[in-house]
Amino acid sequence: MSKKTVTLLLSAGLVFSSLPSAVLADPPPAGSKADHAFDNKVIKKINADRLFERVRDLSQGPREAGTQGEWSAVQYIKQEFESYGYETEIQPFTFQEWESGQPSITVNGTPFTGGIHTFYGSINRTVDAPLYDAGLAGPEDVTDEAEGKIALIERGEYSFYEKIQNAIEHGAVGVIMYNREGSSGQTFGYTYENQDIPAAAISREDGLKLAEKLKKETLSTNLTIQGAGTVDKTSYNVIASMKPHKNKDTGQIVTVGAHHDSVADGPGANDDASGVSGVLELAKIMAKTPTDTELRFMTFGAEEKGLVGSYHYADSLSEEEASRISAHFQMDMVGSRDSGDLIMFTPDGNKNLVTDLGASAGARVAEVVEYGQLGRSDHVPFFERGIPSALFIHAPLEPWYHSPQDTLDKISREKLKETTEIVGAAVYQIARPDTPALENARVAPGPVHYEFDDRPL
Ligand code: BES
Ligand code: ZN
Repeated sequence: MSKKTVTLLLSAGLVFSSLPSAVLADPPPAGSKADHAFDNKVIKKINADRLFERVRDLSQGPREAGTQGEWSAVQYIKQEFESYGYETEIQPFTFQEWESGQPSITVNGTPFTGGIHTFYGSINRTVDAPLYDAGLAGPEDVTDEAEGKIALIERGEYSFYEKIQNAIEHGAVGVIMYNREGSSGQTFGYTYENQDIPAAAISREDGLKLAEKLKKETLSTNLTIQGAGTVDKTSYNVIASMKPHKNKDTGQIVTVGAHHDSVADGPGANDDASGVSGVLELAKIMAKTPTDTELRFMTFGAEEKGLVGSYHYADSLSEEEASRISAHFQMDMVGSRDSGDLIMFTPDGNKNLVTDLGASAGARVAEVVEYGQLGRSDHVPFFERGIPSALFIHAPLEPWYHSPQDTLDKISREKLKETTEIVGAAVYQIARPDTPALENARVAPGPVHYEFDDRPL
């Protein structure tokens, strides 16, 4: 263990078992009233109504990365940070997005009216050919009958690559794929390099209708993909930082993040206006609380496009800066009325400084928080830079995840407040100016036992 890690653990009060017992001076039992006192500076100030109102402000509509909806949210977040007294930076970055262009299908001369999506990477081309039912397009499904035809393929069982490759190898000239059982949308699919074929996606309902018709008659089909391709879009991170107390600066940095973008078709009240509101609340409170640690509160853009904003931020850190970040706390989906209990996820499924702090803070504020293994959010780029990080989220998930129903009425004030209290107590434990605090056990929390939880999502 490096000297720095030991200092960190000491300052977090987490290595009691490896220290001589005389130093311990009877730490109060975890979860008892006595050890709440030192958290109160932060958690007493967390306000459920304020948390809820920010989710309301942010979830008026979708905040998809690269859209006006995102930009409005970015402005709102920046103004909030500034009103608490923070120097705030908007960090722009670009990401590539696939645009469908103008795909069209006609069947026996009749224009198809359902939604059509162009597969990511599809080439722009027009093909006129009979439709061929390729089933799931597994190795046994596609025959030489596909030659010169447009393959109608059901999604599922095999990869996009395999299906399209099987169609191409049997001479198909185009692909129309419909969604798998239980999935109704039509925005899926990608082709690989060298799969030189126009490929489109339609809904399951529309696909089944075509397959049904095809049993009875030949369907002369035109598949036209035009104007499809990638476009560069701009998204933003918003970063507010607070320097430590001048005389007590340890050189450590702690970061607390959430993502402000949502998916295209929902207002993302829980995913992740809830986390943004938590980050803002902690920023507001910590602005008036002296620390020995630099705190950076940040919201990321384009998380839903593949963690693009957090990768951009992590890549922008110098070696020296990255090595000073002791912990990253990620708040994502922290307020749904209909989800399960709080859990901390790490990408490798191992405990780290953040989960130690979170579990202990949980025990003091409410109850011990368990940990599990998951990526899927902005803690991943921090983890990959060697920074201890964890995702604070509730599991199992609510049914409204990534849907237009992820709205304010599903948000629980209590869940928002409790999660923010736990993250706040954990952040304050590492950032408070009187650490390392083992000499004064009244301000050091007891280590807690917490377990790996293989909970379903
Ligand atoms: N908030 C979710 C992450 C999440 C979803 C965690 C479900 C746990 C369970 C996040 O906004 C998200 O949707 N992430 C994407 C991944 C990303 C790389 C595009 C996802 O999980 O599909
Ligand atoms: Zn999310």
